[in-house]
Amino acid sequence: MNIHGQPWRTIWPETDGESVGIIDQTRLPHEFAVLTLRSLADAAHAIQSMQVRGAPLIGATAGYGLWLALRADPSDTGLAHAHALLLETRPTAINLRWALDRCRAHLAPLPSAQRAAAARALAAEICDEDVAINRAIGEAGLPLLRALAAQKKSGARLNLLTHCNAGWLATVDRGTATAPIYLAHDSGLPVHVWVDETRPRNQGASLTAWELLNHGVPHTVIVDNAGGHYLQHGEVDVVIVGTDRVTAHGDVCNKIGTYLKALAAHDNGIPFYVAAPSPSIDFSIRDGLREIPIEERSPREVTHLTGRLDTGGLATIRVTPDGSPARNPGFDVTPARLVTGLITERGVCPATAAGLAQLFPDRQ
Ligand code: MRU
Repeated sequence: MNIHGQPWRTIWPETDGESVGIIDQTRLPHEFAVLTLRSLADAAHAIQSMQVRGAPLIGATAGYGLWLALRADPSDTGLAHAHALLLETRPTAINLRWALDRCRAHLAPLPSAQRAAAARALAAEICDEDVAINRAIGEAGLPLLRALAAQKKSGARLNLLTHCNAGWLATVDRGTATAPIYLAHDSGLPVHVWVDETRPRNQGASLTAWELLNHGVPHTVIVDNAGGHYLQHGEVDVVIVGTDRVTAHGDVCNKIGTYLKALAAHDNGIPFYVAAPSPSIDFSIRDGLREIPIEERSPREVTHLTGRLDTGGLATIRVTPDGSPARNPGFDVTPARLVTGLITERGVCPATAAGLAQLFPDRQ
């Protein structure tokens, strides 16, 4: 992704050989700021406070977090402690466990003196793999978009709707749900994206909109409640979202509000696709509703809003009455029956056990 003409990833090892750079996503879209992570505590805080977020980027940050931890304490106890601490940071995205377990399996058999260097190399590998996976998801999704565009009047724009941010900022680069969109736009297909604001944290309004703006992709931010209306009125040709965890039977867990979009798409016969990189697929579970832990976040994210004043400067305001309780589930589960297809790095498959097994026989 280019920002002001310069290529960026969302996470990188700093050239000092002892720290990691990230983009502080809590400051976007009002300020583009980078932060330096120097310790396990910094990495855990970055994930927990959502300075980094999005399932693939959470996994990548955990990988670098283990490196920072092992620089300070490469013992078996140090490795176990770092694994446990990072695993607790956010419960829903399976990429976190996937990255931590992969690193631990690789690092534990090594002599402790070699662990830190190996952890840094593995974290870099996870990042490069993420970029390659997202490129392949883009290539797998592009023909779907081309086919939908071909059904429209010549030159008419293809209208996509997306929820939350499954873009460049949610990954190391390119994004998952946005990868086919960027490819379509870059190849000259006229696309337009309806961006759900995604209350309460507004990842759509703040992050997806900022990304699309930077890349020059035509888009319009809408309140979450407007999606059903546009779906009913033929203004959406396809919905594409990301995921924090897909079960072996194709249930999809993603940002709260995704389920309602899937219902509305289904009711109106509009295709609903999920960009699902393999590290987000949890082959150990089947039933998303019963088996996926849903993060319960602070009610303050519901009762308060932060934004930039027209006069400049940021302000936080309360939008609910003092004393009204609020609840804040971070994610919901869309049953597989509402999902038209999963766009993976190995191609597109139905959201079924058989569909996933065919693409991922090695993961069964
Ligand atoms: O709470 P967040 O911002 O981490 O939630 C992000 C999402 O729900 C994304 O859609 C998901 O992680 C997929 S990112 C490629």
